[in-house]
Amino acid sequence: DLGRVGDRLDLPVYAVGGFVRDLLLNNENYDIDVTVEGDGILFAETFSAEFGCRVKSHEKFGTAVIVFPDGFKVDVASTRLEYYVSPGALPTVERSSLKMDLYRRDFTINTLAIRLNNSEFGLLIDYFGAHRDLQDRLIRVLHNLSFVEDPTRVFRAIRFEQRLDFHIAKHTENLIKNAVKMDFLEKLGGKRLLTELVYILREKEPFKAVERLSALGLLRFIHPELQMTARTRTVLEDARKIISWFDLLFLDRAYERWVVYFLTLCESLTDDMLWGACTRLAVNEHYKEKLFEMRRRGEEVLEIMEMKVARGGRVAKSEIYFWLKDLPVEILLYLMAKTGSDDAKKCISLYFTQLQGVRCLISGEDLKRLGVPAGPLYRELLDVVLKARLNGQVVSRDDELGMVR
Ligand code: CTP
Repeated sequence: DLGRVGDRLDLPVYAVGGFVRDLLLNNENYDIDVTVEGDGILFAETFSAEFGCRVKSHEKFGTAVIVFPDGFKVDVASTRLEYYVSPGALPTVERSSLKMDLYRRDFTINTLAIRLNNSEFGLLIDYFGAHRDLQDRLIRVLHNLSFVEDPTRVFRAIRFEQRLDFHIAKHTENLIKNAVKMDFLEKLGGKRLLTELVYILREKEPFKAVERLSALGLLRFIHPELQMTARTRTVLEDARKIISWFDLLFLDRAYERWVVYFLTLCESLTDDMLWGACTRLAVNEHYKEKLFEMRRRGEEVLEIMEMKVARGGRVAKSEIYFWLKDLPVEILLYLMAKTGSDDAKKCISLYFTQLQGVRCLISGEDLKRLGVPAGPLYRELLDVVLKARLNGQVVSRDDELGMVR
């Protein structure tokens, strides 16, 4: 249908970029990017009117998003040439050809296009040897200034390499090393650096990519003291196992995997250094404070827990519950990865599998009916009952009522 609308408007239309790359690699990808040689906005609006879609256009950039009634989206771009009138200004955009448009991209493997028009439908357009690089499994830039133009591409190269199980081509790797040496990455804004790091840490298996960041000297742009040591490797590997274990519990507790990996990667940093790293990454103030505070609290609790289990003392379930109940999942998983004590690990896993959902059967209403005066006593009584329930000392609601009476 995209091609037919293109035919009617006499506009060449192509599927481009990551979608074509993944199609050829047989990988799933539902992000369809379309490039129109000509007026992409006119194309998107005509298509949307005919197929009952919504359209969001950005006149300035010649781009539009077609949103289908079921939420499916297609990004539409016009072939364009961007140039900067003055340094730091937004680019001025002019029409250009498909080839020029593809030449602006990061790596050869992202420069493939498939024609969607009726005439020559399905024609694979490969100006820059992308097909060969897909076969050779290589990540290769199109020109020597690619990383200077856009330093985030350094991180993209590593992400694609790990995700697709490709290899960064030798010359491209040298260009990365050069960009590192020349400190181009120092100029990269915190937000953009964070975005790229998050993308990497959100990948299924970020371990190899982090290893690569380290080998190419990129970790120091996050914090000068951040290093991959034998300890970091062990803890990251533990984090991977713990995340797999946790995901298989299907607990319905949402969490951000990248945060667990980020904390694990930064495990050796002191509080001040972690603060510095978060500041460099422009983590928003509220989130930074929370992360910082939660890591501190979590580590304190872990220390108490480790001490207690090391002495061989019996740890009551209620103790575990009250230690851990206010900590976010990310911190709990981080603590499991961090601790060298199997018993402490077991305590946290017990919390997830048996304790976190335990509640009293009685409520504040019952206490009110029993004439308990309003105030902090409510919380205290309910906690006493909850403690008894966690430790198996009460079974029924009557047992609980008996306790507070
Ligand atoms: N691109 C680029 N330089 C960047 C970011 C993106 O040249 N710094 C280009 C790439 O060629 C890419 C396209 O813009 O194909 C779209 O970007 P994005 O959606 O991030 O890339 P995908 O290849 O679709 O990657 P993913 O599979 O992670 O979505």
